[in-house]
Amino acid sequence: MGSWLLLLLSEGIFNKDWHVSHHLTSSTGPTMLLLLLGLMAGTCLSSLPEQEKNPQYWWDQAQQTLQHALKLQELNTNIAKNAIMFLGDGMGVSTVTATRILKGQLHHMSGEEFQLEMDKFPFVALSKTYNTNAQVPDSAGTATAFLCGVKSNHGTVGVSAAVTRSQCNTTKGNEVTSILRWAKDAGKSVGIVTTTRVSHATPSAAYAHSADREWYSDNEMPPQALTQGCKDISYQLIHNIPDIEVILGGGRKYMFPKNTPDVEYKDDEKASGTRLDGQFLTNVWKDKKPRNKNAHYVWNRTQLLELDLDRVDFLLGLFEPVDMTYELNRNNQTDPSLTEMVEVAIKILKKNPKGFFLLVEGGRIDHGHHEAKAKQALHEAVEMDRAIGLAGALTSENDTLTVVTADHSHVFTFGGYTRRGNSIFGLAPMLSDRDNKPFTSILYGNGPGYRIVAGERENIFTVDYAHENYQAQSAVPLGSETHGGEDVAVFAKGPMAHLLHGVHEQNYIPHVVAYASCIGANKDHCKTFSSSAGLAPQPALFSGLLTIFLLLSLLF
Ligand SMILES: *[C@@H]1O[C@H](CO)[C@@H](O)[C@H](O)[C@H]1NC(C)=O
Ligand SMILES: *[C@@H]1O[C@H](CO)[C@@H](O)[C@H](O)[C@H]1NC(C)=O
Ligand SMILES: *[C@@H]1O[C@H](CO)[C@@H](O)[C@H](O)[C@H]1NC(C)=O
Ligand SMILES: *[C@@H]1O[C@H](CO)[C@@H](O)[C@H](O)[C@H]1NC(C)=O
Ligand SMILES: [Zn+2]
Repeated sequence: MGSWLLLLLSEGIFNKDWHVSHHLTSSTGPTMLLLLLGLMAGTCLSSLPEQEKNPQYWWDQAQQTLQHALKLQELNTNIAKNAIMFLGDGMGVSTVTATRILKGQLHHMSGEEFQLEMDKFPFVALSKTYNTNAQVPDSAGTATAFLCGVKSNHGTVGVSAAVTRSQCNTTKGNEVTSILRWAKDAGKSVGIVTTTRVSHATPSAAYAHSADREWYSDNEMPPQALTQGCKDISYQLIHNIPDIEVILGGGRKYMFPKNTPDVEYKDDEKASGTRLDGQFLTNVWKDKKPRNKNAHYVWNRTQLLELDLDRVDFLLGLFEPVDMTYELNRNNQTDPSLTEMVEVAIKILKKNPKGFFLLVEGGRIDHGHHEAKAKQALHEAVEMDRAIGLAGALTSENDTLTVVTADHSHVFTFGGYTRRGNSIFGLAPMLSDRDNKPFTSILYGNGPGYRIVAGERENIFTVDYAHENYQAQSAVPLGSETHGGEDVAVFAKGPMAHLLHGVHEQNYIPHVVAYASCIGANKDHCKTFSSSAGLAPQPALFSGLLTIFLLLSLLF
């Protein structure tokens, strides 16, 4: 094994791949040849950049980073007029690294040295993601933590750990409110943007209180929960906080009466409405808005991009019956990208002089991983990073706190001593010394990619492992790959970003965002601040203003 590795590292991957060939059966020959050509094309960036041979290059780079770090000692203690929370569902640290390499390779670089938008954030912390009743958490309990500031049981949203999953009658009195509500109560504009259904686990914790994350409409609820008076999550979206300015994502079918054909997929019964109460919630949504305000419901990209945003007060956009499609499969006529949705949202929310709170979820990184479709998952994460870049361009670090984090990780990994610049979807430069078969760098601990052919691990030279829907192999067969239990990263920039500085419980995050924004319960420090644009309190300015005020009061 050791000598294999040495040989590979010294001779390069291509020689060895030919060596690989005589372990394969002759029937796989032509396929394998094609795959090898593909592999070679995918790894031609593997030569070391010339500049990296010079120690001065690394020295200069590190010194530049040091100068930058020294400047961070002047902390940004402004009030956060705006706060944006980006949540990559299932975006564990291994996913962030693989996303960085992918995005770099999409930019024709070898990838490892690339910087994601989130990599440029000055402060990084770790978040402990466990739920009150789960070591490895789910997205509902974690959403309650990073939005409501309280840890809770898995499967529940917007309620405390006193609530038992699926038990409607445990809900009452145990509701907890979210940072979105605190921002609204402070007069800010608020928005939710996601690539999942808007009633999915992450967004729902911002506005709903539900003993079960899967109660998307009353159709998904047990009759007992209905008779006990619990409301479905889509109903709560329209009624709990009726003045959410921007709601963009999927989830149309839960808004319309059962069997109502979908506007886009008229012949697909699975896309039809689900509601038992006969309500058209998009109409209810509009009817609840004040008459002098412009409220728009849109269901496709063309409509979204044609809006005159100066004249939009409220926007509901539902682009798919359930979740939005993966970015790689997106129909660019009917569906906006996450970045396009974020741009529209910020432009609407920015109009409020008191600022805004925006929750953005890259919600399908998680789905790609559950399906073991690493390529789908990573392209979802690349798209979220693009949205982070755009949000940065539309706001200022002086008055906007931006936090990027994940709810939980996945059992996703990449390894195998791949060479510099190896395609992130490529092979380890060696065969297994146990079954003499090649393996991809990306693997899952468990999941649907487990394959045994004629009693042995499937030979991936017989399949197109670069395909967007290729399911990477795993150690244990499982219908749906599982979440991972290790900590996730929290990236932060803007006012008070330095308060995210160590290993924190996940429910600490919204406490920081609220403190920085001067919303919610902990506001005592806010009186000492002058304005959102100012730096630390300036006594001179205060006494000056006081004098002017006294003079004015003498005059009138
Ligand atoms: C709550 O409802 C469950 C059935 O869903 C029932 O078994 C239980 O007794 C109820 N508890 C209370 C306190 O009403
Ligand atoms: C939309 O998709 C089509 C087909 O994939 C492509 O040819 C076209 O360039 C895309 N347009 C935009 C604006 O991205
Ligand atoms: C978008 O929606 C409008 C209004 O329903 C419709 O006229 C238009 O054809 C739709 N566009 C696409 C590309 O589906
Ligand atoms: C941010 O604040 C700094 C220091 O007060 C100032 O120099 C800079 O121009 C501000 N940037 C923006 C975009 O307002
Ligand atoms: Zn998940």
